Amino acid sequence: MSETVEKSRLLSEYGCKKPTLKKLLKKIPMLMRLVTGLRKVKTKIKTGISKTVKPKREKLFFDVHICDHCNLNCKSCTNFCPLAEKKFVDSDILERDFKRLSELTNRRCDVSLIGGEPLLHPGLIKILDITGKYFDCGAQLVTNGILLAEQPDEFWQSCRKNAVKLVVSVYPIKIDEDKIIAQARKHGVELEALDRTGALSWYKHTWDLSGGRNVEKAYRKCPWGNVCIYLEDGKLDPCGFPLLTKHFNKYFDKSEYGFAEPSEDDYVDIFKVNSIDEILEKLANPIPYCRYCTLNFSYSGWERSGRGIEEWVKK
Ligand SMILES: C[S@@+](CC[C@H](N)C(=O)[O-])C[C@H]1O[C@@H](n2cnc3c(N)ncnc32)[C@H](O)[C@@H]1O
Ligand code: SF4
Ligand code: SF4
Repeated sequence: MSETVEKSRLLSEYGCKKPTLKKLLKKIPMLMRLVTGLRKVKTKIKTGISKTVKPKREKLFFDVHICDHCNLNCKSCTNFCPLAEKKFVDSDILERDFKRLSELTNRRCDVSLIGGEPLLHPGLIKILDITGKYFDCGAQLVTNGILLAEQPDEFWQSCRKNAVKLVVSVYPIKIDEDKIIAQARKHGVELEALDRTGALSWYKHTWDLSGGRNVEKAYRKCPWGNVCIYLEDGKLDPCGFPLLTKHFNKYFDKSEYGFAEPSEDDYVDIFKVNSIDEILEKLANPIPYCRYCTLNFSYSGWERSGRGIEEWVKK
């Protein structure tokens, strides 16, 4: 693998080409201010009606780790994967949780299979089948693409059968993009590419281990809360952070730095609620763990992780 890629076919053919409304509006500041203002009013009305801090989602969308470890190790990975020990999700636990969420949502639920690197899981085809068995809506698998070109035909057929879209995060490393595109086309699998190659496409968010932040302010400002909803072993969180800090704690256990164990107020136990509405309501409100989040981001180019503590926390 090299750190430079000449020109990414995945990005030019499957990346986001259309200029977003935000980019267009940035060119006309007056209109931008008007649209932002209208959005704020809409959010206020919605949250006023539902009495939640962020608008309650209409449909559940969640991320789930297929494995915690990774074969790339990016600096400041938001999921702490460079620090995680090797761990594959147990497909029986996954099936138990998917069945429960399928019943609660009447199969109307979007799923994002992530990690770590999901292609490392030896039972991935079974996991794709479980996903298709319980949900009718959009499912996707997010990957760094390193192992994608060498996947067997059964993998591609299973993506097609279970309507799983492949989302490739494109890093400045060499992968066999031509073969990936050819396989996706041959098997009729939907592809999407995310650009992680730009000079400012990577960010570092530093958590404040003193845990003294105002939870409501942090949650309001947070781009992940109620967006990157995270499922692990029967628990749902408004973001992955509370259930993933165990990797940080274990890796840096000899240091003076560490996060508290998440409390029962930090997540929803999907087996203790009676309706999807109860889940959506809880996820639209801050959790005690928001006390750690600075929501200060610094942007730079992508780099490999040196596994230094300062990649994640403010010392
Ligand atoms: C945690 S990764 C897991 C899936 C897979 N390993 C991958 O990289 O696509 C999910 C997404 O989060 C993005 N991500 C993680 N940490 C990030 C950071 N510090 N800055 C920007 N994107 C980040 C990745 O690029 C990827 O698109
Ligand atoms: S490829 Fe990078 S962003 Fe994705 S899980 Fe691995 S370390 Fe994290
Ligand atoms: S814990 Fe932090 S990252 Fe998660 S929702 Fe709260 S503010 Fe956002």
